[in-house]
Amino acid sequence: MDASNKKRSTAKAAMEFIKPGMTVGIGTGSTVNFLIEMLPEIRKKINRIVSSSKASTSLLEMHGFTVSNLNEVGEYDIYIDGADESNNKLQLIKGGGGALTREKILACAAHKFICIIDDTKLVETLGNFPLPIEILPMAKGIISRYILKMNGQPVWREGFITDNGNHIVDIHGLQISNPLEMEASINSIPGVVTVGIFANQAADILLVGDDNGVKEIRN
Ligand code: 5RP
Repeated sequence: MDASNKKRSTAKAAMEFIKPGMTVGIGTGSTVNFLIEMLPEIRKKINRIVSSSKASTSLLEMHGFTVSNLNEVGEYDIYIDGADESNNKLQLIKGGGGALTREKILACAAHKFICIIDDTKLVETLGNFPLPIEILPMAKGIISRYILKMNGQPVWREGFITDNGNHIVDIHGLQISNPLEMEASINSIPGVVTVGIFANQAADILLVGDDNGVKEIRN
């Protein structure tokens, strides 16, 4: 099965977790786009929707959904999103699409976080995928120096501005053996808005698409 079909089948499996009357948070990326395309099939079940990016909001609106503001919704039922890597503790690297800050906020506000990936993203140790960090533009210098001290290689995402008006730096060459510690440490650098490690905010349920179907892993 190719990657697109695996992503489509995990997105379909995630729909089973949406129960009547639920408020649903929608992440960002190609896997979630499959979910958004299928959501109209269960429109009647959904109470309200919140979204993690302008891109997902546009797609949801194209499919006839009204997107609510998180501040009006508060805590809500279920957040569904993809990831760039997951380990077996369901700790994640996210932010390949640059929406990590809003994604972390939506994951935190949800009672349940369901992550949908294909099997190529399940890893023993996080870090092969370059770790995205959203930063304030004026902090570029200080953050570069900090990353080099960690033996990481900072690569700026040229021409990319986040939905929050900030920049993204991708750190190459890290082996993240203690995701909780590294998340806290990078988040403490002045000028960092969010690091793309979701360890404190790991997924509750991971749905992994492989050649045989979709595997469910629970935390
Ligand atoms: C966006 C993300 C995405 O969830 C992540 O990049 C996975 O994307 P895709 O489903 O396209 O592989 O974190 O900021």
